[in-house]
Amino acid sequence: MKQTTTPLWSALRAYAQERILPFHTPGHKLHGGPFGEIVAALGEGFFNLDPSDEIENEDIGHQFETALEQAERLAAELFGASDSMFLVNGTTCGLHYLLMPTTGRVLIPRFSHQSVYSALILADAEADFIPASYDGDWLIPLPPTVEDVMERTGKRQYQALVLTHPTYYGTVSQLAELVRVAHERGVMVFVDEAHGGHFRFSKGLPPSGLACGADAVVQSTHKTLGSFTQTSMLHSANTQWFPKVVQAKQALQTTSPSLVFLAVLDAVRAVLAEQGKDLFGRCLALGQRAQMGIAAVPGVELLPSQLNSDPTKVVFSLRSLGLTGLEVERLLRRDYKIQVELSDYYNVLALISVGDTPASVEALIRAVTDLAERRSHLGGRPLPSYGIDVPALPPARLSLREAFFREKGEIPLEEAVGRVSGGFITPYPPGVPVIVPGEEFTPEICDYLRWCLRLGWFVRGIMAGENVVVLEDNRPFCRKTK
Ligand SMILES: Cc1ncc(COP(=O)(O)O)c(C=O)c1O
Repeated sequence: MKQTTTPLWSALRAYAQERILPFHTPGHKLHGGPFGEIVAALGEGFFNLDPSDEIENEDIGHQFETALEQAERLAAELFGASDSMFLVNGTTCGLHYLLMPTTGRVLIPRFSHQSVYSALILADAEADFIPASYDGDWLIPLPPTVEDVMERTGKRQYQALVLTHPTYYGTVSQLAELVRVAHERGVMVFVDEAHGGHFRFSKGLPPSGLACGADAVVQSTHKTLGSFTQTSMLHSANTQWFPKVVQAKQALQTTSPSLVFLAVLDAVRAVLAEQGKDLFGRCLALGQRAQMGIAAVPGVELLPSQLNSDPTKVVFSLRSLGLTGLEVERLLRRDYKIQVELSDYYNVLALISVGDTPASVEALIRAVTDLAERRSHLGGRPLPSYGIDVPALPPARLSLREAFFREKGEIPLEEAVGRVSGGFITPYPPGVPVIVPGEEFTPEICDYLRWCLRLGWFVRGIMAGENVVVLEDNRPFCRKTK
């Protein structure tokens, strides 16, 4: 089958054109009916293209299941995988399907996305962590080094290593080398490529996870490749593991996946196959223009290239003018009607994608220039700089999964030393959990959290009244409870 064909998208369009009288789900019966406002915003087409997947019928030539298999095969071919899977609950569910069948030890960087943690709550596996290290100047977490992985995989047997490629900020590791080291020791490598689906389409970008030899990757097609929000793809190069992933999907996925969402993945894949290189050539040029334009503004700093290998992620800071990233985000939204992807203490990340135009990029540069000039007139003083000196990882008393489902209660942080955490506690920045379910509160961790709170740092997982969530029954694990 050719990459220009769209088996699923075409099957869905053809079914809509048949004008079959539907006595089946969904309840809207493929037209907007009473939902005038929705039709005004989305058009009738969205309803027409939204049958359930139960109605496939050989007689009328609409076998959605077969069409989906064909569409996934085309995606596998385009992305260099042996199997691909279309996903309707984002990269989150792809990571769940990949990791749920694990039963051994799984090594993950501590800064992994929450979907990697929740995957390990679903799995019958033990999580082990590579502590986060940070760039001291930009306060962003760095991916693990080859030495980190060598040291850990040399000491213990792991079933899988999960890496994030790239990080949210566009930082990449020596992925091919990390995969080589892991494979030498019999460890599978899964890559959270939520922010790297476009890597395959330009030589100006880092190599993709599969090109580096990973067993499987999960990409948020919706984040960087232009499909609808919540649509992602999993690409696997491991034919032994993939059947388990399919089983996990059967257990976890809705029995009514949206055919519109799945078909849009197919249609986007066909466009990428034909125009991906051109589209991303233009996108990269726009990213480079945005980076150069913003770097030229007095008082604005750009994340240096050794920390950012992806020009479509424009990370900058107005710290020397006294503005935090959070303030820059707010001012860009309030005064210039520009919304960025994320901000932290120093940085703002503006994402450039195939949806951008020279005009949108120039508007961003003008807004940053104007904001910096206004700030200079006000005589903004540089932000105080903080080091990141996080406490050591605390001892784990229970697995993530066991602790997650235990009875829990809240106690004051003041009384938490020696108790086992029932939740995640994550100061932002840098957005890396200092304690996760099943780990014991050490004096060092409690001191650190109190220090963060005194500074006014946002700490997710601290409840009202500076309470923390702990396991009700602490007895078998550590210090006696009252
Ligand atoms: C690094 C990383 N991994 C995974 C995810 C989850 O992706 P999705 O929103 O497609 O489920 C995200 C989402 O922001 C992410 O940043």
